[in-house]
Formats: sequence, structure tokens, C-alpha cells
Amino acid sequence: MLNFSFQNTTEIHFGEGQIKQISKQIPKTAKVLVTYGGGSIKSNGVYDQVSEALSDHTWFEFSGIEPNPSYDTLMKSLDIIKEQDIDFLLAVGGGSVVDGTKFIAAAALFEGDDPWDFVTKGQPINQAIPMACVLTLPATGSESNTGGVVSRDGNKLPFFSPLVRPLFAVLDPAVTLSLSERQVGNGVVDAFVHTIEQYLTYSVNGKVQDRFAEGLLHTLIEEGPKALAAETKSDLEVRANIMWAATMALNGLIGAGVPQDWATHMIGHELTAGHGIDHARTLSIVLPAVMKTCREAKKEKLLQYAERIWNITDGDDSAKIDRAIELTEEFFTTMKVPTRLSHVDLGEADIDLLIEKLTQHGMVKLGEHGAVTPDVSREILIAAL
Ligand code: NZQ
Ligand code: ZN
Repeated sequence: MLNFSFQNTTEIHFGEGQIKQISKQIPKTAKVLVTYGGGSIKSNGVYDQVSEALSDHTWFEFSGIEPNPSYDTLMKSLDIIKEQDIDFLLAVGGGSVVDGTKFIAAAALFEGDDPWDFVTKGQPINQAIPMACVLTLPATGSESNTGGVVSRDGNKLPFFSPLVRPLFAVLDPAVTLSLSERQVGNGVVDAFVHTIEQYLTYSVNGKVQDRFAEGLLHTLIEEGPKALAAETKSDLEVRANIMWAATMALNGLIGAGVPQDWATHMIGHELTAGHGIDHARTLSIVLPAVMKTCREAKKEKLLQYAERIWNITDGDDSAKIDRAIELTEEFFTTMKVPTRLSHVDLGEADIDLLIEKLTQHGMVKLGEHGAVTPDVSREILIAAL
């Protein structure tokens, strides 16, 4: 196992009716800015629950944070933060609202020229407005991690700081019942790929991490399809298991002390930035191609994955790996996400620009060995055609 330091300070309030907790969790003296997206929280009753819980607080709101939140939208919030002396941010929404609010938290107190510099130039984030969230879409893990992803002018890039980790997160599975089938599928697949990117690398004998990761993969494979099936889609137990699995998949626990990959995500971000494809749908296209292209480097773990996740015991090593990749693709298809570039109307002619963008963004040594160069990324995209 590799050396590691691990801490996750986000307090989780999990379960039905937990939104009311926010009235106790946010200091009464705080001046709160509630941030949200395009209005789903108004139609599913979450906005009303949050308003009720904040009835004794001073609060304002900032809406319109879009999926794959943009720098331009987020910067508009800085006026109200200044005018009203906001000192607490409450994000109410999916990963985009949570990520966008993390950006706002750091941007509002940024002392450099332009907050974009902490995304692209590695400028340090030295301070941030305290933030918390009410999560409405289980997928990204953003509710208890230190990362965010923002977009500007066709560039979609991550940033990280312990200062933007939510102080607390409310996870009420009941609020996920209003999600569309598309967002349910996306969420399960995103959490699945987060787990894989921290598991399917090379072995360092991290038995605890491996078995936690395998538990999450089994849970997502078992429960994901139930959240789409007519008879079980409203089952709160199903929703609760998916929600907790998605948080655990990217809260730092399973990735501590083991190598990590993230090539699928970085290539996927270019597909979103260039072609507007939903985050999870880029992953379901790229991951099977990464498995195929990097099968030698990942051989030992691919065999473990084949046996422990898909119960594949027959055939030689190569046949086992082929079957595991096939079953991964079948699972994605069950979750109604695409698995090929052609499924989203992209082809060979689009690959050059994607590689150019990856290179421009410094994504030239991806993967657990840093061996995924632009040439290898090209092979991956060709395998995904
Ligand atoms: O904007 P509203 O009206 O709220 O609608 C949203 C949005 O249209 C809707 N939605 C959310 N909760 C709902 C709901 N609709 C009905 N009922 C509900 N309960 O769903 C749509 C998509 O929301 P979005 O927040 O964009 O989805 P997701 O949670 O998948 O977040 C994706 C973003 O997170 C980033 C992605 O790159 C992408 O920008 N990620 C963040 C990570 C992190 N911070 O650690 C890691 C991930 O790998 C990922 O990169
Ligand atoms: Zn993701």
C-alpha cells in the first residue's frame, strides 16, 4: 500500500426529511447565499423545504448555475456577495451547482487578478467563504470532496482546495425521485467510473481499498437498474443505496493509498467541452476503450475485476478480460448511456481537435503510470469509435 494522509471533514446528514437540519447547522448570524440551478428545486419541493429551514436566517439567492457550470455565470454572483456581505454559501442542486458554488466560494475572496488563475495557473486558493450543500443528484461526490470542475470558452478544467470542501452535506434520497431517467443513469455511471478510476490500475496490495471499491461496484450494478425499472424506481431504499455509494466513491476513502488513473475523466472533459456531451456519457464512451487500449498495463486488476465483479472464472486471461469489458458495456447499456463515439454522432474526423485540446490543457501524461500520452489518447478514441 502507498503512504497516505486521509481526512474527510464534511458532516453528512443522510435520510428522508434531513433538509430541516440546515437551520441548526448554519449559524443564525450568518448572511447566507443559496445557490441553485435552472429551477428543478422549485418544481420538486426542495426550494420550499430549504426556505422553511432558513426561515430564521438572513438569506439571498443566486440561480441559473447551468450543467457544466461556466466561469461567466459564476462570476455574476460576486456582486450580490459583495453588496450583501455574504459569509456562508449553501449550494442546492447537483454536482454542477456544488462545483460552481465551490468556485464562487474561492473566487469571492481571491486576491489575485482573475480567479480563473487558480484553475489554469495553479495559483493557490488561500481563503474561501464557508460552504455547505443540499445534494439533489447522486453522481459526482462533490458534496464531500475538495474538487470542482468549471468551464470557460470551450475549456473544462478541474481545481482543488481543502478550503472548498463542504462543511456539511444533506443527502435525502427522496429528493432524487424527481430526477429524469437520463440523470439517474448518468449518476450511477459517473459513480461507477469514479470507483473504477481508483481501482482498475495496478495492485499495491491495498486490500481494504479494493474490497471497499468492489462493494461500491456491486452496489451500483445491483441497484442502478432498479432505479430505472418501473416497479422499483420509486423505492427509497434503492435511491438511498445509490446516493451513499456515489458519495463514498469520491470522498477520498477508496483512493487513499492506491494508484489512481483519471485518464477516462480527462479525455471525457474534452468531449463535454467540445461537443456538449453529458459528463457521465463521455465516461461510458471512453472507459471501455481505456480498458481495451491499456489492457496489458491493467492486466492484473482487470482479471481481479473480471473474477470478483462479474464472476468470470472460465477461459484464458485474455478471454476473461474481453468478457469483463463486454459486461461493463452491457451494464452501461442497461443504464441507457452510450458506449461509442458513433452513438453521439462523432467520428474519426473529430479526434484531431480532441487531442489538440488535451495537449493544450497539459493532459499529456495521463493514467496511473503517466503513460497515456496524446498518441495513446488517440488510440483510446479510435477504440471508442
Ligand atoms: O439545474 P437544475 O434545474 O437543478 O437541473 C439539473 C440539471 O439540469 C437536474 N437536476 C438535479 N437534481 C435534480 C434535477 N432534476 C430533477 N430532480 C432533481 N432532484 O439535473 C441536471 C444535471 O445536473 P448536474 O448538476 O449538471 O449533474 P451532475 O450532478 O452529474 O454534475 C455534473 C458536473 O459535475 C462535474 C462534471 O464534470 C459536471 O460538470 N464533476 C464534478 C466532480 C467533483 N466535484 O468531484 C467529479 C466528477 O467527475 C465530475 O467531473
Ligand atoms: Zn465523474
